[in-house]
Amino acid sequence: MAGELLDWYDRFARVLPWRAPPGAPPPPAYAVWLSEVMLQQTTVAAAGGYFTRFLARWPTVGDLAAAEDAEVMAAWAGLGYYARARNLLACARVVAHERGGRFPDDEAGLIALPGVGPYTAAAIAAIAFGRRAVVVDGNVERVMARLGRIETPLPAAKPLIRALADRLTPDARPGDYAQAVMDLGATICTPRAPACGICPWRDPCAARAAGDAERLPARAEKPAKPVRHGIAWLALRDDGAVLAETRPARGLLGGMLALPSTEWTEAGPAGAPPFPAAWRDLGVEARHTFTHFHLILRVHGVRAPAGSPGDFRPAAGLDAALPTVMRKALRLGLPALQSAGA
Ligand code: ADE
Repeated sequence: MAGELLDWYDRFARVLPWRAPPGAPPPPAYAVWLSEVMLQQTTVAAAGGYFTRFLARWPTVGDLAAAEDAEVMAAWAGLGYYARARNLLACARVVAHERGGRFPDDEAGLIALPGVGPYTAAAIAAIAFGRRAVVVDGNVERVMARLGRIETPLPAAKPLIRALADRLTPDARPGDYAQAVMDLGATICTPRAPACGICPWRDPCAARAAGDAERLPARAEKPAKPVRHGIAWLALRDDGAVLAETRPARGLLGGMLALPSTEWTEAGPAGAPPFPAAWRDLGVEARHTFTHFHLILRVHGVRAPAGSPGDFRPAAGLDAALPTVMRKALRLGLPALQSAGA
């Protein structure tokens, strides 16, 4: 079965910036690691530009290890899940300083690195080092659940899915095979309206035979996400600079630049502005969904006099370095504040 999939991959592999063509020698482990960390929780389309920019700016793991934390966090802005960026730097520094700039070449060594979990370790071992490793991401889960018509809902089905993935993983071309299953999941075995008619695994697929591929994998119902509220404080100086803060290293958006804000709570915003002034409710809200809650940030603003305390930064540069929810708050709040003129 792996053979049919690899034949399909040889013809239809997606061309992606971090990928060698089918059968070609793999890219350096640094590039594979960087791409796989970016692709955790992020789509191929969203990650592509970031990958290319990171690799141009920090061509080796040593270059990345030597970067300033703030530069890397700013370059990651907009990709989300910012703990990944903090772990990325921690991992680069371990590899550069403790391992002579070389990534471990097997799963056991890789999984010991910061930010490298079972999925990422298996993906790097297979793709960068040609080792047989069972690579299971969301795409692979969907493909396996359908192939084996596994009715057990996720996450309970994970061990069954993994066992099937393990049985199918070949000794030959493990990197191409892992990426072939991902491509199959992304282009043919899609969540909705899978293209079973052109699937290289249409014959062995139990869900296709039963006609219910689209229904799988089943999922346990998730609890509804609560809504938290907060106020983002937008202080604009006449020279165009905006008050920013660096968030504490631990916690949500940790280590990122942000507009100052109150605590975010279900009960509603509570907390004082960064300095006393005639703050006004600008009547705009930035909405964003995090893993465990929805956030509504109401933007309050003030035209700040020269000499106001805090870390004021030019709005354009700040915009580029902000995480998405804060960028939304800035972009919604600035026109409201500027049109007010005072
Ligand atoms: N998703 C995660 N890793 C990937 C890869 N190497 N190729 C395509 N999609 C992916």
